Formats: sequence, C-alpha cells, structure tokens
Amino acid sequence: MNTLVTGALGQVGSELSVTLKNLYGENAVVSTDIRTDPESPLVQEGPFYQLDCRNGQELFDIVKRHKIRRIYHLAALLSATAEARPQEAWDINMNGLQNVLEVARENDCSVFTPSSIAAFGPTAPKDYTPQNTIQQPTSMYGVTKVAGELLCNYYHTKYGVDTRGVRYPGIISNVTMPGGGTTDYAVEIYYEAVRKKRYTCFLKGDTHLDMVYMPDAIKAAIDLMEADPARLRHRNAFNVTAMSFSPEEQAAYIRAHIPEFEIQYSVDPVRQALANSWPNALEDYAARVEWGWNPEYDLGSMTADMLKVLSQRGV
Ligand code: SER
Repeated sequence: MNTLVTGALGQVGSELSVTLKNLYGENAVVSTDIRTDPESPLVQEGPFYQLDCRNGQELFDIVKRHKIRRIYHLAALLSATAEARPQEAWDINMNGLQNVLEVARENDCSVFTPSSIAAFGPTAPKDYTPQNTIQQPTSMYGVTKVAGELLCNYYHTKYGVDTRGVRYPGIISNVTMPGGGTTDYAVEIYYEAVRKKRYTCFLKGDTHLDMVYMPDAIKAAIDLMEADPARLRHRNAFNVTAMSFSPEEQAAYIRAHIPEFEIQYSVDPVRQALANSWPNALEDYAARVEWGWNPEYDLGSMTADMLKVLSQRGV
C-alpha cells in the first residue's frame, strides 16, 4: 500500500516521511511539498513532487500514478502566519484539505490530517479540556482546524472515506524547525540555550500550553492510521498531549543541565493572545482507550534528549 505525504518538508512531514519510508519501503512513500529543497534527502532520493495542494488535478495525477492508498495531509499554515494572512490561510488550509478529501474519495484512500489545540477557544474548559466540548476558536488557524475536523467527519459519514486525525499540541523536535506557530518558542529555547545560554521568549513566563516530543507525535500519526477502525468511536480529531508546561517551568528544567541559563521576556501580543485563547492542558482519555496513545517523553526526558542531541550536533 503506497502512501503520500503533503507538507513533507515541514516540521512534522520531514520526520514522518523518513519514518514511513523505514517502515513501508523507500518507494512506497511519495513526498510532496509546496517548495523544494535540493539539500533534502527526501528530494534527492525521491519520489518527490513540488505540489501546491490547492491544485487538485496535480494531486489526483500523483495519487493515480503511484497507486496511493493512504494520505498524510500535513500542508497548512500555522497559527501566527494564519493570523497575519487570514485569507490565504483559509485558502491553503481548507481548499487544500478539500482537494485531498476529494482525491481520497475518488481513489479509495485513507486520510490522516492533524487538527490542533487551536481548535478550542476561550469558551472551552481550560484545564483537562474534554474530547467533546464547545469549540469556538477565535483565530483563523483555529477556524480552519474546526472546519477541517467537521469536513473530515462529513466525508467519513457521507462517503465512507477513512478519515482520522489528532489535535496536536505544540510539537518539539531537533530536526526541522517549526515556522509561524505560537508554540515555536518551546523549540527555539533549546537551540538558544545550547548556543547562548539565554533566551528571549515571546510568550509570558506563566503561559501553560500542551506539548509533545516529536517521536511521540510521529508515533501518534502512525498508530492512529494502523488502528482497528472497529475500536474508533471518535475520528476527527483525538485530543493528544504528553505534557503541559510554561516557559518558566521549561527554563527551570533547562537549568538542571545548564545552570547559567537565563530567560527574558519580550511578549508578542498576537501570539500571546493566541496562546491565551487555547487550553492549558487537554484530557486525552479517548486516544488512550481507542488506539493506545501512551507518550514516552515528559518534560524532563525531552529536555535531556534535546540538549544532548543539539550539543552533540554543535548547533
Ligand atoms: N503549534 C501550533 C501553532 O503554534 C499549534 O497547533 O500554531
């Protein structure tokens, strides 16, 4: 069964594509992205296509050519970029997804697409935010995520397309940097801790948000797509979280390894408002029961691993 990844050069796509190739075979995974990068092994080794998901015909042709049966649709604009360019965010996030769902319907593909903690807004419970609760996001990114969840459910009930998804929290990795997100600080802080032993954070020190380390985020996507559909009462999308922390708590964990580490704050009002509108900590019981979500990394083990890997690499 061949798999297609959109947004394959992005933060999640770059690592997910490599993991999928290791699992299913080099040629069984087709990578696509709106941009190209001659340095990327995914581009060098292929199969790779430069693809804007808003071009449904091109997407259809690639799916047919490679007999694709599973799509990981990761191409999207993140929260801060979407707030700066809301019309473009709607176009990319929604029309890209609809093309993927149409192509999936016509070619009998299953679809994974991530939702986000941003699918909740200020009216949802802040702590232990339930799987099923009020979803009234105030950001364009959140609007596209809720609409995307509903569209995926619609294609599942109306056309029987096997759509599945998770509400990702902030994702921390040491391979590809995120871009344009509100949770990006939680990645940057490790790079700056290794480079300069200090970091200026764009969120307030006591802002709590859910996070997950990349190995667990990748495992979530793969395990959910491999899960027995008979066990899935929910589909779009499952709450998942591995930890909830604030910048000042993360700094304290970094100080256990780098005692001189200092954090300062220069708050970006746009990203602070986004973070304030999101939950502090999700409840992810449905994911645990229905497909075995059980993250390995917490703040302590992730911090140790991030600092070790980045120091060894000499970032
Ligand atoms: N990491 C994302 C963002 O900050 C949240 O889904 O935009």
